[in-house]
Amino acid sequence: MRLFITGVFVRAARNARLTRGGSQSIPASIPAPPRARWASTSTTGSGPFSPYRSKPSKASVDATTPESRFLDHLQNDAEDKKIVTSADGLSGVRILNQAFVFDETSNASPSILDLVGRELYNNPNHPICITRRLIESVFNHPTYKNHVATNPVVTVKDNFDVLGFPKDHPGRSRTDTYYIDSTHVLRTHTSAHQHAAFEYMGKNPEVGYTICADVYRRDSIDRSHFPVFHQMEGAHLWAMPEPLNEKELRYSRQERRYNKILSDLKALPQPKLMVVDPIQSHNNETNPIQVNHDPKECEAICEHLQRSLEILVAKVFTAAKDAGVGNVGDDPIKVRWIEAYFPFTSPSYELEVWWQGEWLEILGCGVTQQSILNNAGLSDRIGWAWGIGIERLAMLLFGIPDIRLFWSKDDRFLSQFKAGEIRSFAPFSKYPTCYKDVAFWLPKTSPSASPISGSPSSSGSGSSSTGVAAAAGGDATKSPADANLSTAFHENDFMEIVRDVAGPLAEDVRLVDEYVNRKTGRKSLCYRINYRSLERTLTNEEVNKLHEDVKKRLVDEFEVTIR
Ligand code: PHE
Repeated sequence: MRLFITGVFVRAARNARLTRGGSQSIPASIPAPPRARWASTSTTGSGPFSPYRSKPSKASVDATTPESRFLDHLQNDAEDKKIVTSADGLSGVRILNQAFVFDETSNASPSILDLVGRELYNNPNHPICITRRLIESVFNHPTYKNHVATNPVVTVKDNFDVLGFPKDHPGRSRTDTYYIDSTHVLRTHTSAHQHAAFEYMGKNPEVGYTICADVYRRDSIDRSHFPVFHQMEGAHLWAMPEPLNEKELRYSRQERRYNKILSDLKALPQPKLMVVDPIQSHNNETNPIQVNHDPKECEAICEHLQRSLEILVAKVFTAAKDAGVGNVGDDPIKVRWIEAYFPFTSPSYELEVWWQGEWLEILGCGVTQQSILNNAGLSDRIGWAWGIGIERLAMLLFGIPDIRLFWSKDDRFLSQFKAGEIRSFAPFSKYPTCYKDVAFWLPKTSPSASPISGSPSSSGSGSSSTGVAAAAGGDATKSPADANLSTAFHENDFMEIVRDVAGPLAEDVRLVDEYVNRKTGRKSLCYRINYRSLERTLTNEEVNKLHEDVKKRLVDEFEVTIR
């Protein structure tokens, strides 16, 4: 099941099914953080904005240290996205024009960096862009400003801290997130731009926004998980109206704000779908209204949020049905709301849609934490936010069977899509699969090498069994291979090696056997890797070579013993 990285499903927590690697403290260092480059896609409004923080001025960096000399070299002479190593053993990279020197936290591999900057959401005839446009057609001008954020490198502060992620939240761990250095990550969600977007709203007339971007998560390998995918985030805020006169009390201004929310709600059309088990109350112990919010105002915001998203779902799923995708007949579209948890919203929800015989989780949302608005200078506003995984919608809109296809440069894939058109994808061919197993003994305790920096690759100290879910695109069922061995080997580290070696040729990786030798206490794992190209038949030699490389990396980096 694909869950939201930042979410703790109340439901999931209840059956305590979900365990994840634990926390890791992240040392602070390294120069000034850039913010993602933003481009507004709306043709109206006040135009693009660029909330770049200034780079460190030359004068402030001691140009005589090896690190600053290397930084200079990366900035001026290195090839973008190519990892460079210096004579003094430093390594680093320039990503979309910003140089970074790796430190002990860095874990972004070459295969991931290679995917940075493709901007699939900007290619009008690509299914990711077509889906983005469909969502934007519901959340559009003049209420919403539609943005894209083209640079995925964001600060740890923007991705986690300002959103209220606890220091020990599993989403922060190096097993789940790609760190460029200790203060920068490849964003794990579009919420990394909330703060900047809210600040932007403080200076501009729109009351809402959408942001589309590529997001990155270390994750399992199968047909619906890829370490890079796309998200879209939306928000809508209501401002406190100006006082009618000097004497008007805050209370009555707030009453007018409440009435505005109600009238906006009334103006929304009633979508044609069936809501199963509607939420009875938006205030309860596990999913509370914020203490500083007025319950009836919050209730109205939740209604507005849910109605807006139901309109979106009705539009998307009607389009899929009209295109004849999924063969779902004439049944009404059915959705249900589930309570959820995100550090940056409360109450929080998740929306599921009944599709081809199962409940499909498609988005997370909630009432924005007031502290986030206050920090962006919007203490007089109140509102909601949501986040949607685009691939999941696109896969069902177009009937695309494998998430790797989105990254294909093959014309047989790309030529099938046209801006504004939803139609069923015709698979061009299915090439044979070739599976290979790798079985190995884990070391009892082992220092292991990070793929880049040669330092310990940690999955954090111990696993959490608090029911913390993973990823809008993540797999919440994974845990370190063994609690005692968690600092040595995490399944995501294995996935990363496979991705690095085989890239999109790895279709699926599964743990097929697990066993502890009673005498030695050592644990053996066996993974099955399914190799298949979407574009051609792989040769035996090719697959053998890939598999041998995977084994070699496994031995070199985790000191395992191949069986
Ligand atoms: N950022 C969340 C995720 O990736 C989704 C979300 C966005 C939830 C906005 C609530 C509000 O899981």
